[in-house]
Amino acid sequence: MAEISQNIAKAIELLNNDELVAIPTETVYGLAGKAISDDALLKIFAVKNRPKFNPLILHLSSLERAKQYVEYIPDLAYKLAEQFIPGPITFLLQKSAKVPDLVTAGSDLVAVRVPNHTLTLELLNKLDFPICAPSANPFEYISPTSAEHVNNQLGEKIKLILDGGECKVGIESTIISLVDKPTIYRKGGVSIEQIEEVIGKVEIHKFIDENPVSPGNLKSHYSPNIPSLLGNIDELAKDFVGKRIGILNFNKINQKFDPKNQLVLALDSSLETAAKNLFKYLRELDNFDVDVILLEEVPNIGLGLSINDRLKRAAKNT
Ligand code: TXA
Ligand code: MG
Repeated sequence: MAEISQNIAKAIELLNNDELVAIPTETVYGLAGKAISDDALLKIFAVKNRPKFNPLILHLSSLERAKQYVEYIPDLAYKLAEQFIPGPITFLLQKSAKVPDLVTAGSDLVAVRVPNHTLTLELLNKLDFPICAPSANPFEYISPTSAEHVNNQLGEKIKLILDGGECKVGIESTIISLVDKPTIYRKGGVSIEQIEEVIGKVEIHKFIDENPVSPGNLKSHYSPNIPSLLGNIDELAKDFVGKRIGILNFNKINQKFDPKNQLVLALDSSLETAAKNLFKYLRELDNFDVDVILLEEVPNIGLGLSINDRLKRAAKNT
């Protein structure tokens, strides 16, 4: 069983020895390993049961530290960093020869990110190498936002989970390529509107919804085990008369159904609250005694775009 603690010294020792450690970030928990060790990287893919064509994000304590792993840092990156780093944003940049092919799945681009979490920044500051940290969930399941979530699924496979409490943002970082025209590869914790306020109009990668090159965008990502459908709850429910229905609402209980099988993402109607609760509630619903889970979309603005993106991938009908 994994130790669940704040033992940074032990985390450093394990990472130095090519072992994995689960770490908290502001977005979701990560499964961390030394980024410049093929042994450690192979363990990450094995523990997550993740295909190797799916590249990993380098996590560092500052953008400065990324310098040796990228060809250059463009001005746009510094501009965005001023506003959002440390924070829930990941830059795709031209990689340097120092980055192992296993990290980038053979691509010329490498993803770099500075997470905003005190415990993990302290850890990263004490390491003289970057770590790779995909979300600490089995491939295609819901991302973890607490140490307990990680322990439930990966606790038998790793030695240490650093406990940094519940993730404050609750959905993964926004991925933006800055090598050519700024292009969003994954909608996430920094909204597109926030980014455009700083650097102007950005593109949305055209494959993001259909044929993803960024496998965080795989259609069946974030899926609960119980069949889940997204749309108008009352309409969807017509197909499930006599069945037990679980419901994830945006901001209020649906009076037409049994309240005990319902969760509300944000009683305060805030999209920040909804993001923070999203993965926790999807997991809870997956443990309900129901035949189907019905998901309601949230308002499609700001963080709502990132939340609806996750809901679509969790659902089987969208
Ligand atoms: O918020 C986050 O970013 C979390 C926390 C733990 O930091 N990490 C995370 O990692 O979400 P992961 O591995 O679950 O998702 C990383 C996404 C994948 O969809 C991957 O395809 C994409 O980043 N990615 C990584 N490197 C890439 C590259 N060189 N080109 C295109 N996509 C890349
Ligand atoms: Mg993931």
